[in-house]
Amino acid sequence: TLCCSALLHLGSDQAMQRAASSTPGLPRLPVPALQQTLDRYLLALQPIVSEEELNHTKGLVDEFRKSGGIGERLQQGLQRRARKTENWLSEWWLKNAYLEYRLPVVVHSSPGVVLPKQEFLDRQGQLRFAAKLIEGVLDFKTMIDKETLPVEYLGGKPLCMNQYYQIFSSCRIPGPKHDSIVNYAKGKKWSPHITVVHNFQFFELAVYSSDGSPLIADQIFIQLEKIWNTSLQTNKEPIGILTTNHRNSWAKAYNNLIKDKTNKESVRSIEKSIFIVCLDAPMPRASEDIYKSRVAAQMLHGGGSRWNSGNRWFDKTLQFIIAEDGSCGLAYEHAPSEGPPIVTLLDHVVEYTKKPQHVRSPMIPLQMPKKLRFNITPEIKNDIEKAKQNLNIMVQDLDIKVTVFHYFGKNFPKSEKLSPDAFIQMALQLAYYRMYGQPCATYESASLRMFHLGRTDTIRSASVSSLKFVEAMDKPNKQNQEKVDLLRRAMQAHRQYTDMVSALTGNAIDRHLLGLKLQAIEDLVSMPELFMDTAYAVAMHFNLSTSQVRRSQTDCVMCFGPVVPDGYGVCYNPMEEHINFAISAFNSCAETNAAHLAHYLETALLDMSPTILCLPGWGH
Ligand SMILES: *[C@@H]1O[C@H](CO)[C@@H](O)[C@H](O)[C@H]1NC(C)=O
Ligand SMILES: *[C@@H]1O[C@H](CO)[C@@H](O)[C@H](O)[C@H]1NC(C)=O
Repeated sequence: TLCCSALLHLGSDQAMQRAASSTPGLPRLPVPALQQTLDRYLLALQPIVSEEELNHTKGLVDEFRKSGGIGERLQQGLQRRARKTENWLSEWWLKNAYLEYRLPVVVHSSPGVVLPKQEFLDRQGQLRFAAKLIEGVLDFKTMIDKETLPVEYLGGKPLCMNQYYQIFSSCRIPGPKHDSIVNYAKGKKWSPHITVVHNFQFFELAVYSSDGSPLIADQIFIQLEKIWNTSLQTNKEPIGILTTNHRNSWAKAYNNLIKDKTNKESVRSIEKSIFIVCLDAPMPRASEDIYKSRVAAQMLHGGGSRWNSGNRWFDKTLQFIIAEDGSCGLAYEHAPSEGPPIVTLLDHVVEYTKKPQHVRSPMIPLQMPKKLRFNITPEIKNDIEKAKQNLNIMVQDLDIKVTVFHYFGKNFPKSEKLSPDAFIQMALQLAYYRMYGQPCATYESASLRMFHLGRTDTIRSASVSSLKFVEAMDKPNKQNQEKVDLLRRAMQAHRQYTDMVSALTGNAIDRHLLGLKLQAIEDLVSMPELFMDTAYAVAMHFNLSTSQVRRSQTDCVMCFGPVVPDGYGVCYNPMEEHINFAISAFNSCAETNAAHLAHYLETALLDMSPTILCLPGWGH
């Protein structure tokens, strides 16, 4: 769900072309050909369903694809939609993947990012770093405001820059049936403040002077100190924990909360703010070994109601998290944007915080930041208690393991002229197969940003070729050379699928099938059997949900939860000489275990490297 999977190239001559909120001249997202999608669908099922199921589905596909049949009719509906809209998919996708999704955004939708640990060891250091970080974010925002952010390129093609314009001053609002997103980035309602939260207490901090210039770090630091000094009490109700609840419960609690005028003003202030900065209380100390996993959990869910989960407003698109012990990172609400714009922003900010402080402006005394007050009625108190309970169950249930693979990074596959992404995906296939003796439907997000308002489609990494490779890998009677060939072929298949999504034509199958299904709902025709089929359910049950962090300068880890109760979330960031992995699962599922998959993954990567180099002396 996060990121694009090929490398992003910023050509220097190309960079001269500046990005407006929509990149001019981008092609529209095409509707793939019906027969082609159906053929590819059957191909994608082959490794993950039984022959019997596959034959059954072939029958359903034949029925669906008949000339003059339901498939053609729905396809025509899609083509009409494509002519009438800027992007036939984007609005449907936003609703379907995010706004109508009712599980909590925490763990189930919002990713976390762990940034490198900072050197500071006390409150002064924490606040100085926070001030500098805020200055850095505002510096990035200036590029967006002035529309001077360079257009990005993928494989020589310009990308849609629209998502960059959706991440500031925006917030998700819970609703009884579906949520919505508000964006205050432009127009009269824009407000020059951020939200700062400390000890569960929210503050409105103006970060622009009256002449429109952003405050500098020294000024922000003093403001943060004032906030700190007036929020020392820790006995406050963790109001922000409400945002961790199931969306229906939260929607009810929200309406109840904003009945009170003061509460409503406070909530509006948070929603309108440019972003949030969470000054976190120290978490329990962790050994070196589990420290990174612990911080990943802190970024994903805050650690539980006793720790920092109430020190958040999870509906906010951007929350920068800075803890007293030097841990820092980000939690982001996924609906407005994929990972790449967020990572680009983080790269900018991390670089910015390394710059020495030079401007020391005369200090004009600034107003005390405004504390956002909440009147807690017994009903609201009750909602908070329920949200706490649900959250703590979720926190207990999340199994997360962050590991660093030290033996090589993307340098190794690159030296063999292989795609690092395909290499890692095949290692995942091998690891999963060794654990479960069968492959599973695998989701890898791929960018559709070469199309106007494009979001993502799915690379299905489990293929006929990947299955042949993983089956051969542990067979003693297979020669190394044969394994190498099978691996190369599997990686080629992955490469072709990737190109099918992004580089060439926007021709993957997942969003097209979803479109046909939604078209059936919109046309009020009865749901075609194809979408009620067991094989379809298996194909959509992604035991492996994966994403690559595209080329980041920062040595960061992104993490997210599994998308099914018995699956894994796997995010990886291949750096030059090492690979960062964050693997998640649910403790309530006896069959999954994040640390086990991490172990098998490491072994798979090691086993595959000599395969390619054709070194003797490996195997099992
Ligand atoms: C905050 O409190 C500390 C310790 O009492 C004090 O040294 C500092 O000047 C205060 N800062 C502000 C901005 O009020
Ligand atoms: C993965 O998916 C399959 C099919 O949907 C399911 O039967 C299986 O139990 C899942 N989980 C694991 C850990 O294999």
